[in-house]
Amino acid sequence: MKKFKNLSLKNFHTFRTDIVSNNLYVIENDEDILQLFNNGIFGDDYYILGSGSNVLFLRIPTHIIIISTKGKTIINENEDYVWINVKAGEIWDEFVTFCIANNWGGVENLSYIPGTVGACPIQNIGAYGVEVKDVIESVWALNLLSGEKKEFSNNDCCFAYRNSYFKIYNNEKWLITDVLFKLTKRNHKYNLSYGNLKKEFENEKIDLENIRKKIILQRLSKLPDPKVLGNAGSFFKNPILEKNKFHTLQQQYPDIPYFEYDYHHVKIPAAWLIEKAGMKGYRIGNVGTHEHQPLVIVNYNNATPYEIYEFSEKIIKEVNNCFNIRLEREVNIIS
Ligand code: FAD
Ligand code: EPU
Repeated sequence: MKKFKNLSLKNFHTFRTDIVSNNLYVIENDEDILQLFNNGIFGDDYYILGSGSNVLFLRIPTHIIIISTKGKTIINENEDYVWINVKAGEIWDEFVTFCIANNWGGVENLSYIPGTVGACPIQNIGAYGVEVKDVIESVWALNLLSGEKKEFSNNDCCFAYRNSYFKIYNNEKWLITDVLFKLTKRNHKYNLSYGNLKKEFENEKIDLENIRKKIILQRLSKLPDPKVLGNAGSFFKNPILEKNKFHTLQQQYPDIPYFEYDYHHVKIPAAWLIEKAGMKGYRIGNVGTHEHQPLVIVNYNNATPYEIYEFSEKIIKEVNNCFNIRLEREVNIIS
């Protein structure tokens, strides 16, 4: 385990606000976690971090614990599937690259999402028509109150759009140590349903590598690079509306885009609402909505966490005034 005192967290979270941690621990194996447990750190004021790509610190917890455990182990395989256990600190996109190099299918649409494997179940990461719940067999986690280790089946995780048991009920109490994935070895189920992805393959071979390439290109054209402009991806979730409410809105705005969510609900793009409210590329001082994707709030230059938070409040207020829809934050606010 590596320990640091009074270290800036600027390089440990993608909003890159310049805040200083009191105690920072980099966990490299499961024994390190037990050591912190036995030292009573989890009874004190702590926060668990992966790559920090979905957090905004309004307050700095006394102990910041960065999960950097590594390892990938094949647990089982047959002609069709492979089951692989991955330690929480593995970098998500390195894992995706590894899967594609082995011709294992299921995670290619989730290419280039920042963060760690341990964080992927927390908000059930998703992109381009796929969610990580589609390939998670189970999640291993340590109860930080009792020290109990538990395997959560896919069903136990209560996965939903940008949500899970871990996000709703705690992340204070369970530390995810491993994720077990089930991936295809042949007969891959390619998913080109999102946006114009299918069109891009009209004259091209559909395979895992090519899907990854196209998705990375699309992401690069829309999303800002956190190394250049601090951000945490989509700041808000796309709202899910009851169909009745949606149809009333649709009468007023016939061009409103929407996606079927379930029998009673549709999902509408928060980016569209923010743009229509006149806030695409909108900026106050050091903070703004991104010019290509207004769902992303960016730190232009040394913004404080409060400036970012206040800006997000303003967006919520304006969208609510225009459409009577209250946007919910996707980013985890540490307050
Ligand atoms: P962190 O930000 O460090 O933590 C997130 C939450 O998980 C915190 O509450 C933390 O306490 C908890 N946590 C982290 N690790 C553990 C653990 N081992 N055990 C228990 N709790 C833990 N998300 C998408 O879903 N789809 C996208 O397309 C997408 N695109 C993005 C693009 C950009 C440019 C950026 C910056 C972010 C994007 N995100 C996207 C959000 C982000 O990448 C994901 O939420 C990712 O899973 C966060 O991983 P992390 O390791 O950085 O987690
Ligand atoms: N749109 C606008 N104006 C814009 C941009 C988009 O009106 O400037 C509308 C368009 O109608 C477009 C729609 O919004 O078709 C959707 O836009 P996009 O495909 O960029 O996706 P998104 O809904 O804004 C979601 C996820 C992203 C994920 C992409 C791709 C959420 C909150 N965000 O964004 O995830 O990468 O789809 O699947 O669900 C994240 O969670 O951090 C994240 C980046």
